[in-house]
Amino acid sequence: MSGLFAEKSVIVTGAGSGVGRATASRLAEEGARVVCADIAPAEAKETVRRIEAAGGVATAVEVDVSKEDQVEAMVSAAVQQYGRLDVLVNNVGVPTPRLGALLEDHTVEDFDRLVSVNLGGVFFGCKHAVLRYKEQGDGGVIVNTASVAGLVAWGGSVYGATKGAVLQLTRALAIEAAPYGIRVNAICPAAMPLTGFMAAGGLDAETSARPEVAAKMAAQHPLGRSVTAEDCAEAILYLASDRAANVTGVALPVDGGYVAR
Ligand SMILES: NC(=O)c1ccc[n+]([C@@H]2O[C@H](COP(=O)([O-])OP(=O)(O)OC[C@H]3O[C@@H](n4cnc5c(N)ncnc54)[C@H](O)[C@@H]3O)[C@@H](O)[C@H]2O)c1
Repeated sequence: MSGLFAEKSVIVTGAGSGVGRATASRLAEEGARVVCADIAPAEAKETVRRIEAAGGVATAVEVDVSKEDQVEAMVSAAVQQYGRLDVLVNNVGVPTPRLGALLEDHTVEDFDRLVSVNLGGVFFGCKHAVLRYKEQGDGGVIVNTASVAGLVAWGGSVYGATKGAVLQLTRALAIEAAPYGIRVNAICPAAMPLTGFMAAGGLDAETSARPEVAAKMAAQHPLGRSVTAEDCAEAILYLASDRAANVTGVALPVDGGYVAR
């Protein structure tokens, strides 16, 4: 298949929903062979089904990104299936467990889950991708999904701390890995009411879609609408592509101007 990612071997984590599904689908449209990795295998398989129905190439892998052995196996699966790895999109993130939870409302279990999934998952992904890229010896690309919560106070203190850490890991690894031709960047989305994320944090899709709720969320963004998974996918595709060949260590807001205000 021709396209911006023709014949590239790509992993997208959290590919069973929202940003991950939209990114996997766009990458496949651009010719990538995509490993759709998710803790929810039926959802990952549904993404694969949609990609194949559109003429693309994809395979589903079940992974819990907070477990190093499973992340290592995910990278091996991509190499086994498609011969190498070119791009890893570390996209999984879980929200603040209860809508509006203050710092002192977080239990140690809440804290451990946010840190192990949001930061641990990105750490394990970066580690095993970098090991693979160094073995291949011809560069490689990582894109991490952070959040505006890593740049300003938004979405909960502990959640924001994990996303700030993802951004610092992105910058530091970008410098460490630059001599090997490995690029590492991040996107920072603002509120996306229509992915599974808000529901997981306690705001269900039906409520988010109510005109008054949707309008209130849209009004937070200077460009006047909420961010979509497809907006994020386009930003990830740019950073993952050769068009961004001289771009590394950046945190790209996809936020309708939210943090510039
Ligand atoms: N939706 C928003 O408002 C928003 C805003 C800013 C940043 N983000 C970030 O965007 C990214 C994607 O969010 P989304 O809105 O598409 O969310 P989503 O809930 O729609 O999708 C997340 C996917 O990750 C999977 N997942 C969860 N835990 C996992 C684990 N331990 N291992 C493997 N897979 C796991 C889920 O099954 C799901 O398919 C996340 O990193 C999130 O923090 C979201």
